[in-house]
Amino acid sequence: MAELRSRRSNLAVPGSNPRFLEKAKGLPADQVFLDLEDACAPLAKPGARKNIVAALNEGGWGEKIRTVRVNDWTTEWTFQDVIEVVGGAGANLDCIMLPKVQDAGQVQALDMLLTQVEKAHGLEVGKIGIEAQIETAQGLINVNQIAFASPRIETIIYGPADFMASINMKSLVVGALHPDYPGDPFHYILMQILMAARARGVQAIDGPFLQVRDVPAFEEVAKRSAMLGFDGKWVLHPGQIDAANEIYAPSQEDYDHAELILDAYEWATSEAGGKKGSAMLGDEMIDEASRKMALVIAGKGRAAGMARTSSFTPPEE
Ligand code: GLV
Ligand code: MG
Repeated sequence: MAELRSRRSNLAVPGSNPRFLEKAKGLPADQVFLDLEDACAPLAKPGARKNIVAALNEGGWGEKIRTVRVNDWTTEWTFQDVIEVVGGAGANLDCIMLPKVQDAGQVQALDMLLTQVEKAHGLEVGKIGIEAQIETAQGLINVNQIAFASPRIETIIYGPADFMASINMKSLVVGALHPDYPGDPFHYILMQILMAARARGVQAIDGPFLQVRDVPAFEEVAKRSAMLGFDGKWVLHPGQIDAANEIYAPSQEDYDHAELILDAYEWATSEAGGKKGSAMLGDEMIDEASRKMALVIAGKGRAAGMARTSSFTPPEE
């Protein structure tokens, strides 16, 4: 996971709105997804494809990961979305996001279509990654096969709004804790998605929180999936970006500590350090498992561009 690009914040931008597309370029999100699906009215979809191709080819997106969400395979739009967007701007695009993925076959169908479009436009085959959104009961029971369905898969994403509809959840407050339910109603779903993503070695991304003016509530929801290990979350509004960037990166203290563990353990296991399999770092005993945990935190911190504020000095004998 350490080499993966950071996806702490993934900004949703409706493809039908050229002003929002322009504004998104300057915002500090790690990733943008330009939407042809649920944020675009059916009559606006053809125009949105053109806006998106133009916005991608104009450039100005900086280091952001650029994704386009196409429509799901049950509609009449998916093939045309892919042909127009990848055909028109494939060189300036990183991933296609496929919503409402039901089974591995839907990912394979997109993989094959992408291969043809890449060949037809002289793009490297396999250039475009796939982000799979899990938003239905059927998608969740197939999530393990979905995660392994194509080498193009880069993320597995939770779509809470569609998911809540799919399972008949009795709440309209998307992604929030509910006063009538003592626990976290989404824990099981988040964990299933996380296990599939980790087994496959790809990123796990939490979906949207719709009360966009309530940043403290966004933070509360984001901290739950960040704590489990999720790599990032959608943001629907510029006001949610800073919170996501902070919550899905390690704290400075945790990052420094992780780098320190890596150095201390490397030294302890070396000839000079006495070839020890476990060692003390201050009051903490560290061993190979500590190194693995530290690698995760250090990897997230490095991907987020964090800098160390302390360094390791071998103890004097
Ligand atoms: C996102 O697409 C969702 O349905 O929550
Ligand atoms: Mg959805």
